[in-house]
Amino acid sequence: MKKLVFLTGAGMSAESGISTFRDSGGLWEQYPVMQVASIEGYEANPELVINFYNDRRKQLLDVKPCEGHRLVASMEKDYDVTVVTQNVDNLHEKAGSSKVIHLHGELMKATSSINPNDSRCIVTLPEDNPVIRMGQKAADGSQLRPFIVWFGESVPMIEPAIEEVMKADIVVVIGTSLNVYPAAGLLSYVSRDCKIYLIDPADVRYDRSLGITHIKKGASEGMKELIAEHIPVRHE
Ligand code: OAD
Repeated sequence: MKKLVFLTGAGMSAESGISTFRDSGGLWEQYPVMQVASIEGYEANPELVINFYNDRRKQLLDVKPCEGHRLVASMEKDYDVTVVTQNVDNLHEKAGSSKVIHLHGELMKATSSINPNDSRCIVTLPEDNPVIRMGQKAADGSQLRPFIVWFGESVPMIEPAIEEVMKADIVVVIGTSLNVYPAAGLLSYVSRDCKIYLIDPADVRYDRSLGITHIKKGASEGMKELIAEHIPVRHE
């Protein structure tokens, strides 16, 4: 089986109704990014940041995977698929993808304020009341915080993601402006024979020497075109 790696960003979930960050009307137009998505912002006002993610999490309960997520999951019948996502939602998993690497954390999880990557402290919040309260403690006694990788923090999942990209026969990038590192640097690890596709309705800045095929469509329509014209599947 050929190895197929998807690298997804906020545009992947846009058709499910989740805002992107940098498009007009995106989340970072409404909220100061360094206040709600940086370690300095959290240290300055933990309650504001905890509440911001409580709100994001409540929104997540109302949304469903889009056709694009489902088509990504369906590729597992014909390819050895890994999804590397910058998204903190769980829509790839809900659509049926079995191997998902979350580079920027997971919204439905919470962790320690002192050691956010200590696996003994990472817990999944209950679906019926997925909130973190001030004063609620992680296993190490520190304030429970969102399991999100903020600006200024390390990205431990980048190492397994690089390994997957290095082994890929095909990489498909969907819905990311490729603005945020180290995720945006992943394409520099592809092998010489790897074919790269990009699905995004907008122009995205990337290294032209990579020979990327740009399907200038949204995630769902773009996945349909990818399957119809570029990556054959047998299971249909
Ligand atoms: P951005 O908001 O920077 O980029 C979203 C991309 O999705 C843009 O290139 C859009 O053109 C594209 N897009 C919009 N609608 C789409 C659709 N229907 N189908 C496909 N693509 C569409 O989001 P990211 O690149 O994911 O991190 O942002 C990277 C990181 O920055 C996020 O993970 C987040 C943010 O700060 C943290 O908060 C830690």
